[in-house]
Amino acid sequence: MRIRIPATSANLGPGFDSCGIALSQYLSIEVLEDADEWIIHHNLGEEIPKDKSNLLIQTALSVAPNLTPKALKMTSDIPLARGLGSSSSVIVGGIELANRLNNLSLSQKEKVRIATEIEGHPDNVAPAICGDFVVASYVDGEVHAVKHHFPMCDVIAFVPDHHLLTTESRSVLPESMPYKEAVQASSIANVMIAAILNGNLPLAGVMMEKDKWHENYRQQLVPHLKQIRKIGHELGAYGAFLSGAGPTVLVLSPEEKTNEIVGRLNQLPLSAAIHVLSVDQEGI
Ligand code: HSE
Repeated sequence: MRIRIPATSANLGPGFDSCGIALSQYLSIEVLEDADEWIIHHNLGEEIPKDKSNLLIQTALSVAPNLTPKALKMTSDIPLARGLGSSSSVIVGGIELANRLNNLSLSQKEKVRIATEIEGHPDNVAPAICGDFVVASYVDGEVHAVKHHFPMCDVIAFVPDHHLLTTESRSVLPESMPYKEAVQASSIANVMIAAILNGNLPLAGVMMEKDKWHENYRQQLVPHLKQIRKIGHELGAYGAFLSGAGPTVLVLSPEEKTNEIVGRLNQLPLSAAIHVLSVDQEGI
């Protein structure tokens, strides 16, 4: 049995904790055989546990406590702690593993609810499960998620070599904000979503760069965001935004502009990997 979970990018700027897209980088899980104890052979680095304490197995057991131990193989090209939903992909993988091993027949809605309860917000786990573009709310213990087709474009991921933990990136956010500013922030998000639904990426891209919920506060942790936006404006990108809690920045680009934008991003004085991705339409 094999399970494949896409990377994700949360927020898209103003859709903080609510909007996300699935991307064409993946975590793959394979069940090798029954075993005396849980073991995961993986390529995620020495610091990630290979035994029962791994988040994948912990999640699977929280969904189905009677699962019997297995030997698993886990391979991932989603970089860790970069804002591309690596931990969400593992949580979703654990839920799907329990679902398939115990034939639980969980619906997509149930998977999204379980994953959101574990993660705390739906903006990575919902697109990882459903694919494509998902807008979701988590209010009063209920998750409402709506999937919609994301307009065609290239998604250039500028992935700095350094980690940024979500906890650190959330610690710079304010406890509250003025009512007027919140109303404005909400209107920006609403127009961004409406523009995506209309296939109007030029307008969506403009709104993506006007976020008021989080990017201004996080700017100090991701000074490269400004430089990347400048390149995007010069070369005709639709827009650029912090991917999730960062430090990765995504640039949405018309296909014909991508090579030139990547060339310029390569010249930035910050060590980073640059990937040209697309939106994954399927999820798990
Ligand atoms: N919406 C979350 C954030 C995504 O920006 O903090 C990362 O978990």
